[in-house]
Amino acid sequence: MTLQGRSFIEPPDFTTEETEELFRLAERIMNSPGDYAERAKGRLLATLFYEPSTRTRFSFEAAMLKLGGQVIGFSGENASSAAKGESIADTVKTVACYADIAVIRHPKEGSAKVAARTADIPIINGGDGGHQHPTQTLTDLLTIRTEKGRFEGLKVGLCGDLKFGRTVHSLVRALCRYEGIEFILISPEELRVPDYVKKEIASGCGGSCREVERMQDVLSELDILYMTRVQKERFFNEEDYIRLKDSYILDAEKMRLAPADMIVMHPLPRVNEIATEVDADPRAVYFKQVRNGMYARMALILSLLGV
Ligand code: NCD
Repeated sequence: MTLQGRSFIEPPDFTTEETEELFRLAERIMNSPGDYAERAKGRLLATLFYEPSTRTRFSFEAAMLKLGGQVIGFSGENASSAAKGESIADTVKTVACYADIAVIRHPKEGSAKVAARTADIPIINGGDGGHQHPTQTLTDLLTIRTEKGRFEGLKVGLCGDLKFGRTVHSLVRALCRYEGIEFILISPEELRVPDYVKKEIASGCGGSCREVERMQDVLSELDILYMTRVQKERFFNEEDYIRLKDSYILDAEKMRLAPADMIVMHPLPRVNEIATEVDADPRAVYFKQVRNGMYARMALILSLLGV
């Protein structure tokens, strides 16, 4: 069982055992980062970001630098030959001549898969449109594992833009593989999860799902509340976005309805959906998630490089 040379396009590309192996490595790195400070020496990571990003790009760059490796890349398609009309395939083939591994974020669903088919280096999907975001999922799972100590039997509330939110689609796909997860899908009617996501839950490991509109009705039952922003850039018209953008705002008053051991997660960036007063609540773990993301990506880079 080795991840060396493989690409990571969506969570099921790795078995749950392989994913578990990655978490164990991430934890070893967290506990003794000094032991890993030169493991990727002489290796080069390329970051091809056709869409805006703060955490995903910086955490990949930080991860590679902390492993002793180096980074090249661009941010925004105007900063690359995409602006001249170059295809993703040609850009990736070019980058593979220089780099040992690459991460790509692109607004088109399926773009990372195309890149992986073209390149002879490991390709990591850093988010393809409204589809998947598997390294955010590694980050989320590592956080759940650290905070809750298990995946099985959890009651997970996913709240906000469940239609366009790729982090939700990826997380559901990954969690479905564990026994008896109960998903509570909290969204306005127009932002419900796509049917294919519901089908995945139904065909997973005995999981179930329920759709509700009011967060207050279910807060008291949850182990995890996963908040998301309304994905402005994926809307066809601005009026719809403006009407839906503040559908949910988690504040200190609502937090009083939640169990003492519930955790609040968010992939970030947040817009209005979590009031900043919630940050001081010990149940808010979204900035811990950011930190975990870097360790998860360090483990991923080392495993795909096979070092
Ligand atoms: C997410 C994304 O890009 O999908 N951000 C991230 O990578 N942490 C979530 C979002 O943009 O809402």
